Amino acid sequence: MNDTNLRVSNYLATPVMRIMTCGSVDDGKSTFLGRLLLDSGNVFEDQLKAIGSTHHGTGSSENKPELAFLIDGLKAELEQGITIDVSYRYFFTQNRKFIVADAPGHAQYTRNMAVAASNSDAAIVMVDATSGVKPQTKRHLSILSMLRVDRLIVAVNKMDLVGFDRDRFRKIKDETVRAIHGIYDHPCSFDFVPVSAKDGDNVARRSADIPWYNGKSVLELLETMELDDGKDSPFCLPVQYVARESGRRYYAGTVISGTFFTGDEIVVLPSSKKTTVAALFVAGRESTCAEQGDLVMVEMADHIDISRGDKVVKSEMDLMQGDTLSCRLFWFGDSPAAAGNVYELKFFSRKIRGTFKKVNERLEISTLKRTPAESLEQNEIGFANITLSATHFCLPFTDSRELGSFLVVDIGSGDTVGLGTIDSIENTGPTYPYATTVDRSMRASMKAQHPMLIWMTGLSGAGKSTIANLLEKKMCESGYHTYLLDGDILRNGLNSDLGFDAASRRENIRRAGEAAKLLVDAGLIVIASFISPFINDRSLVRSLFAKGEFCEVYVSTPIEECIRRDPKGLYAKALRGEIAEFTGITSPYEPPVDPEITVDTSHCTPHDAVEQILNYIAED
Ligand code: ADX
Repeated sequence: MNDTNLRVSNYLATPVMRIMTCGSVDDGKSTFLGRLLLDSGNVFEDQLKAIGSTHHGTGSSENKPELAFLIDGLKAELEQGITIDVSYRYFFTQNRKFIVADAPGHAQYTRNMAVAASNSDAAIVMVDATSGVKPQTKRHLSILSMLRVDRLIVAVNKMDLVGFDRDRFRKIKDETVRAIHGIYDHPCSFDFVPVSAKDGDNVARRSADIPWYNGKSVLELLETMELDDGKDSPFCLPVQYVARESGRRYYAGTVISGTFFTGDEIVVLPSSKKTTVAALFVAGRESTCAEQGDLVMVEMADHIDISRGDKVVKSEMDLMQGDTLSCRLFWFGDSPAAAGNVYELKFFSRKIRGTFKKVNERLEISTLKRTPAESLEQNEIGFANITLSATHFCLPFTDSRELGSFLVVDIGSGDTVGLGTIDSIENTGPTYPYATTVDRSMRASMKAQHPMLIWMTGLSGAGKSTIANLLEKKMCESGYHTYLLDGDILRNGLNSDLGFDAASRRENIRRAGEAAKLLVDAGLIVIASFISPFINDRSLVRSLFAKGEFCEVYVSTPIEECIRRDPKGLYAKALRGEIAEFTGITSPYEPPVDPEITVDTSHCTPHDAVEQILNYIAED
């Protein structure tokens, strides 16, 4: 092998480490990165000339290149057309190859940091020696901890501006260690390095100006940091590509954990079919074994059906299986994450539809406190339950970052709107224990309509039943197949065992929602009319349906008008104290926050209200 070949093969064999930098612009992050690239020999002459010709330095650095420009210049190019604002830079040394994710520290930091952190083996946390630990530093640490970036290098930068003062460094170190201990709820390793990014002290080379520091430079730490080789984790190969050649089939993908050998018995998920590894190629060469990170092609002993997105494992028990995720969500979308929304979830080599069943809690990043929530706004972090349209095999994020995380993609726009990490997955079971031969789409297409639930909510006497009746009449006349579910009617039959306390009302609405779901499944357009006074109960119903299948109509007629109408004489009785927990009088009504339609029958006729609903449905 000649010299060049030797160098090339050594280069291919060197491991890749994924790192990220965090800190705000003021902490000198770009300068640091520029210095790291420059002093590790990863900057080309022409790039150096280009930035050297800009006279932006001051004082002693007058003739030095402005290193931040190196990074910011690249960033401007890289950012074009990228929806997630993280730029990746690549550099290498004799011992290792590195991919640095550079997440800008400005307002969108949750989004950028989460995306960068979910892919990083280690993080360099910049702290400015002149100002110390900032609230932003703590927020960064929280996100790193949540996304299991458990190897930290804290670069205390601008040491030159504090006269390379040892006590200052120690004080910042103590402060940061306290912050790390307060934030990380699992073990993590950390090193502290006093740095001057501007002059290069302890970035790639050790500093002569900081004699009291005997440790390694940041680059040395990066080069020697132990990486998880995944050998102890169960073997898993997600199939990313199926190649056919002269009647033989090869399955390609990257081993995400564990090791495997030719002759090993394997199981393919989700089919659970078993076979044996007949031949194995690692990076194009025939081999007898492969390990984490290897790009492999596998030939199986038997011709079993294996498709893209399937997972090859050694035992079914190595992965968890289910259709409902409990997860943590990092939300980036413009519109909030809320129950009932449907998205595409992008797992490692597989995409599945997911319906948000419930958003449970929001997490305050600076305090790590959880508060009850029903939705998540942009840049918020929270906890949610998501129902998948198919059974999925995965692991909790704490066991596998690859198998335990996913991206949330808006189906309409294709935008990435969130990142999820899996806490657990369970099998709530399919709606039907077996796939029915005649399914909902077939039933719906026979009726040539888009089945849905139109849910009317509002006070007693607001006009819900009148509108519902007229709406059904109009729809039937136009050839739609409908069904009307009314509170008064259900309470005479299916729900005759229920009263009007909050728990009974909840059960009343739950049963009505489930009944409506069956009817929508049968291909019908269902019109439901219930007071349904509580937001949570209505959200639960919404969560049973896909987006576009549920339309909430708020019949907002004011209570004074309902009392004036009092069609059943119930308000009079309630006001005399003869009916307990009467909605609007002695029991609350929580108006919808964001209904699809609002109609006030004190200002419009039932006919106008019906027109409004029909127009909405026609537009949808
Ligand atoms: S809900 O609150 O559980 O959604 P639902 O729509 O099923 O109520 O039933 C409401 C109807 O029950 C009213 O239109 C009224 O005729 C009757 N009713 C009897 N008692 C009450 C009460 N305490 N509060 C509200 N409605 C009552």
